[in-house]
Amino acid sequence: MNIIDEVKQRADIVEVISQYTTLAKAGRTLKGLCPFHNEKHASFFVYPEQQSWHCFGACNSGGDVFTFIMKKEGIDFGEALRLLAQRTGVIIPSRTTKETDKDKNERLYQANEAAAQYFHNLLVSSKAGKRARDYIARRGFEAKTITDFQLGYSLNSWDALKQYLIERDYSEAEQTQAGLTVATESGDSHDRFRHRLMFPIFDAERRIVGFGARALDDSLPKYINSPETPLFNKSGILYGINLAREAIKRQKMAVIVEGYIDAITAHQNSFNNVVASMGTSVTEKQILTIKRLTRNLVFALDADAAGREATLRGVNYENTIGNEVKVVILPKGKDPDDVIKKDTKTWQYLLDEALPIVDYTFNWVASELDLTTDRGRTSALDALLPILAAIKNDIRLDHYVKKLAQLCGVSYRTIESSLKAYLVRSKIKTPMIQKSFTPAPRMLLANSLEEYCLMLLLQHPELKVHQSELSPDYFLASENREILIALMETDDPSSLKDRLDGTIWEYLDNLMKRSLPADQIEKKLTSCILRLREKYLRNLEMQKGAILAGEAESGGTLAELAKLEEQGLEISTQLKEVFSQKSRGGKEQRR
Ligand code: UTP
Ligand code: MN
Repeated sequence: MNIIDEVKQRADIVEVISQYTTLAKAGRTLKGLCPFHNEKHASFFVYPEQQSWHCFGACNSGGDVFTFIMKKEGIDFGEALRLLAQRTGVIIPSRTTKETDKDKNERLYQANEAAAQYFHNLLVSSKAGKRARDYIARRGFEAKTITDFQLGYSLNSWDALKQYLIERDYSEAEQTQAGLTVATESGDSHDRFRHRLMFPIFDAERRIVGFGARALDDSLPKYINSPETPLFNKSGILYGINLAREAIKRQKMAVIVEGYIDAITAHQNSFNNVVASMGTSVTEKQILTIKRLTRNLVFALDADAAGREATLRGVNYENTIGNEVKVVILPKGKDPDDVIKKDTKTWQYLLDEALPIVDYTFNWVASELDLTTDRGRTSALDALLPILAAIKNDIRLDHYVKKLAQLCGVSYRTIESSLKAYLVRSKIKTPMIQKSFTPAPRMLLANSLEEYCLMLLLQHPELKVHQSELSPDYFLASENREILIALMETDDPSSLKDRLDGTIWEYLDNLMKRSLPADQIEKKLTSCILRLREKYLRNLEMQKGAILAGEAESGGTLAELAKLEEQGLEISTQLKEVFSQKSRGGKEQRR
């Protein structure tokens, strides 16, 4: 079994997704509120038999467990695989990075370093930097802060940085790889950051991995960040970690805020143990970064973000760091920058009063529901039992069982037995990570058609024209999606590996060398593509059908039903098209 299958085998999609959203059974599927967008009505479905998920709401996309983690944590395939491997105790062989990558990365670090210096000088001493200096003064940043954080300014030009770096022998390709320039369709490239305040982003080893860039006025987007590069991996990095590391160790506590400016203002006011998550939900990788320094963690969140974190995620953060995690909820409409600037004592007070994240989640659920009604109490149990079930520490579990009993006005025993029933129902008897490996608890997806299609494309580059008939969506297995996307991106099969994560190489090699009969390959490929398309559409149709039935039963609104039905019609039209193509193909064959 290859490493990808091994991880899939152990990481059950229901368990994984349940950590991000509450799922309820609906026939043979599970449904819940989509964890990727805000919605009131559940349009997110998980299919345990296929080990897949699909959102029929705003996202209208789906995939397997890797796709889910990639999307949710904002990471690439390899990182998702590593994360799930870590959670499930699979060990990944280390021969998956190449020696030359190290040298390549070294060049990119140097390019970033040169760019940061260039931006910094422009901010501090150029005439063109005056507007940025005025802006910084308005935000109240002192000279020391500008130096400490190496703040900078990017000129209002399409190629100022590019020319500067070319003179210093960094090729256009290297600059684009570092995310400093953007490649255009015509094969040219131009500066990514123009007329912005520049925030170099350092890793814990004090190397520059990327940049954040703020507009100097209200224009949008407010921030532009480096794209994913070999160095910049937003999900694992915390802004300010280079400056906060020592303080976090010394004070035995880390505070995570959302914004660049929040972190800077905190440091300027001697709160040196503060780092920024850079806007997104905090990721597991970020927590692991903190864990190396301390096990005491406080989130400072605005009201919106707090709601977002008030889920099972909170307990999972605790399980990752092995300690209670606390939250500071900021006054409405304020961020840490506002609070600290106004009065550092308020900030200190808020920190002192930080609530354990599970308590916060309890309060939050209680405030969203009417607990005087049976319905409200049932919903509270539905929302909070999974959280209780995930708490690993017995003393804390006891505390929260009491709390939930109080909240719902029932006895301790009642909650205890509901919890037991829940555990039996969900079969999460032991946490995922401690579960010993039981082989083949369920069938892995049968992907032979997907594999066959890729084998044809990989072994017969002359068939490339047919690639356009395929969509990555036709592939359920994300490793197959990755390979197809890489194939679509390059004309040079020998560069495929450069585009793919090392964990896929073994699988790729296998697809390249498995033997195929050599006759009628083009016909085989077109028929294979049609079958994949048919499978994809049938799957959608089947899923839609199940949902429609469920919605009708549970009294979905007419408008929602109509919308689903309309989408269903479109699928059947497309399916008919596939059938007619297939029968045309069949006739040709007979001729
Ligand atoms: P905020 O919108 O709260 O910005 O986004 P901010 O940090 O408070 O900045 P000011 O005070 O308005 O100048 C919080 C963080 O989310 C990320 C950035 O990391 C930002 O610091 N973000 C926000 C983006 O990456 N892109 C955006 O367009 C907006
Ligand atoms: Mn702000």
